[in-house]
Amino acid sequence: MEIHRARSLKGELKIPGDKSISHRSVIISSLINNNVVIENFLFCQDCIKTIDVLNKLGVKIEKIDGNLIVYGKGIKNFSEPNKILDVGNSGTTIRIMSGVLSATNFMSVLSGDSSINNRPMKRIIEPLLEMGAKINGRENNSKAPIVIFGNSNLKGKKFNLKVSSAQVKSSILMAALNAEGTTEIIQPEVSRDHTERMLQYFGADITYDGKYTKLRPGRKLIAKNIYVPGDISSAAFFIVATLILKDSHTIMRDIGMNPTRSYFIEILKKMGGKIIIKNQRIINNEPVVDIETFSSNLNSIEIDKDKIPGIIDEIPILCVAAAVAKGKTIIRGAEELRYKESDRIKSIVSQFKKLKVNIEEKEDGMIIEGDVNFKAGEGMVDSFGDHRIAMSLSILALLSIGKVTILDSECINTSFPGFKYNLKKVLAP
Ligand code: S3P
Repeated sequence: MEIHRARSLKGELKIPGDKSISHRSVIISSLINNNVVIENFLFCQDCIKTIDVLNKLGVKIEKIDGNLIVYGKGIKNFSEPNKILDVGNSGTTIRIMSGVLSATNFMSVLSGDSSINNRPMKRIIEPLLEMGAKINGRENNSKAPIVIFGNSNLKGKKFNLKVSSAQVKSSILMAALNAEGTTEIIQPEVSRDHTERMLQYFGADITYDGKYTKLRPGRKLIAKNIYVPGDISSAAFFIVATLILKDSHTIMRDIGMNPTRSYFIEILKKMGGKIIIKNQRIINNEPVVDIETFSSNLNSIEIDKDKIPGIIDEIPILCVAAAVAKGKTIIRGAEELRYKESDRIKSIVSQFKKLKVNIEEKEDGMIIEGDVNFKAGEGMVDSFGDHRIAMSLSILALLSIGKVTILDSECINTSFPGFKYNLKKVLAP
C-alpha cells in the first residue's frame, strides 16, 4: 500500500463491527439450542476463521442480507471434525475455542499460521488442564498445534491468573459453562469483559466486577438477537489521524464504548485531544456511542502497567500520537505486546525509526520524544504481517515528506476490511 502526505481528514466514517464481540457472538450462539441473528457482524479474516471452525464442528451458519444467522445446536450436538481446525492468524479463535472444545466428547486439533503457532498457549492449556481437560500443545504444552480429547466431566475451579488476558479468561469461561461446580477468575488487572456481558445477556448465571468473574454453570442460555457495535480499536486509527492532521474533523457513529476498551480515549483527551462522545446508549448489554474528533495540539503522557490491558490493541496507534506530541511519552509494563501478531515493541520501534520518529526500545515498552512539527520520512516500511502495525504505519505516513510504501499490507483484512476505502473517503483533496 502506498500512502502520500495528506493535508486533512473530513467527514463521516463507517467503522465495521467489533472483532472481539463478533467472535464471541458466533461462538456463544452456537452453544445455544436455537437460532440467533447477528447484525453488523465483522466479516474479517479472523472472524471468518471462527465461522469455518464452527462449520467443521457441524454448526450451520448462513449470511443472509448482510446478517449472520447461527443455527445454534448446543455443544452436545457438535460433531467430531474430520480435518484440522485452522484458525489462521486468529488468537481469539484458538484460545476461546480451546475452552469450548475441552468440554466436547470427541477429539480435535487446532492449528494456525506461523505467527499463531509461535504465540504463547501455556496460558490457556494450564488452566484448562486444571479443570480436567485432556489437552496437549507443542513444546511442552506451550504452543499450537493443540490436540484436545474432549472431556464431559470438567470441574469448575478458582483461578488466580498471572496474566491479564480476556482471551484466557474467555477460554476458561467457555469450559466453565459445561463444567461441574462454580468457576471463579481473578486477574491482576482488568481485561475486556465482552464474554461476561454476552453470557449475562443470554441469561447465564455470571457476576463480574473489574478483576473478578464468577460463573455458575447449569442455567439454560436463551437465544436473543445481537447487534455488533463498531470496533473502537478500528475507530482508534481514524481518531488519531484526525487529531494529528490540521483542519480535520470526523464523526463515527455506533461505536462500542465498553469501559474495558475505551481508556485510550481518556489518554488522548489527557494529551489534549478534542474528542466528543455523544448519544450514549446500551445495545445488548454493551455501551454504544457516536464519536466526533477535531484536530488538536497534543502533549506527551506516561502510561503504566495497570492501564496496559485496557489499551493493549491501541498502543501502536498511541505511539503515532506520541510522535507529534510535545514532550516525552513513556509506555511501561507493556511486555505483552511482544506476544501479539508480531513482537509489537520491535515492529513499532524498528519501523517508526525508519520514518524518523525519535523512539527508543525498552524491554517492556518504549520512549518517544515527540515533535509538534514532526514530518515523517519516506520509503519502504514493513508491517511484519501484523494488521495493527500496518494501519498505524499508514496513519504515520500521512505526515510523510513524500511517499511511504507499506509492505505486506493485505494483513489489514485481519480486522478492518474497508480501512483503505475509509481513508480515501475522508482524505480532503
Ligand atoms: C482480545 C483480547 C486481547 C486483544 C485481542 C483480542 C479478545 O488479547 O489483544 O486483539 O477478543 O479477547 P489478550 O486478552 O490476550 O490480551
